[in-house]
Amino acid sequence: VNGKIEIPVVVNVLYRTAAENISLAQIQSQIDVLNKDFNALNSDFNSVPAEFSGVKANVGITFVLQNVVRKSTRTTSFSTNDAMKKASTGIAPTTPSTVLNMWSCNLGGGILGYAQFPGGSSATDGVVMDNNAFGTTGTVTAPFNLGRTATHEVGHWMNLRHIWGDANCGSDLVSDTPTHDSANYGVPAAGHRSTCTGTPLEMFMNYMDYTDDRGMFMFSNGQKARMSALFVSGGARASFGI
Ligand code: ARG
Ligand code: ZN
Ligand code: CA
Repeated sequence: VNGKIEIPVVVNVLYRTAAENISLAQIQSQIDVLNKDFNALNSDFNSVPAEFSGVKANVGITFVLQNVVRKSTRTTSFSTNDAMKKASTGIAPTTPSTVLNMWSCNLGGGILGYAQFPGGSSATDGVVMDNNAFGTTGTVTAPFNLGRTATHEVGHWMNLRHIWGDANCGSDLVSDTPTHDSANYGVPAAGHRSTCTGTPLEMFMNYMDYTDDRGMFMFSNGQKARMSALFVSGGARASFGI
């Protein structure tokens, strides 16, 4: 409406143990990270290498915590089959056409989180994070303790692909991100190059790679354009009414 992209957020907390019933402080710490990372206010933004200083983006999207819904469960660990999003086995989303729904639960199989791309069923729309990778305090566990799992998942929710395009030298459909060999893990050494055409420097510090939380701290202008396009008239998330 005023040109500012402001996303209302509902956090759905599923817990079997008391620890999984994460605190409001932990939830707020995650919202704070999203507001920093999507507004170039993260303290590591100035660690972006000079080679990428021309493309590092202030995305300009803010997140406002609207409500927290809590529910106990007998489920020991959830998978990526969306059971946490169903009223019978979890918590159904709150008005997904105007609210970003996030779920915190115990995800099995070492999964940190997963997201639904724009254009999917509204009944399952949103992002899911393991409670150990949610926010920066409470039950959060290193090296995924800086809230970057949600930054990455919200990137997917806003139509971003993995930077390596989920294929060897694949495409993420963004022109200002270099072609990567494949996913990067841990924290790669400075100057790491791709062996793809042109052997570009890899942008492994991008949120859409797979590094540790402390290794990722930027979106690119091309990624910003892809995200912003969703919220204008005719975009897949235009119902957010921006
Ligand atoms: N594996 C997950 C995904 O593809 C999330 C990876 C998040 N990485 C992180 N450092 N927190 O959606
Ligand atoms: Zn991903
Ligand atoms: Ca690219």
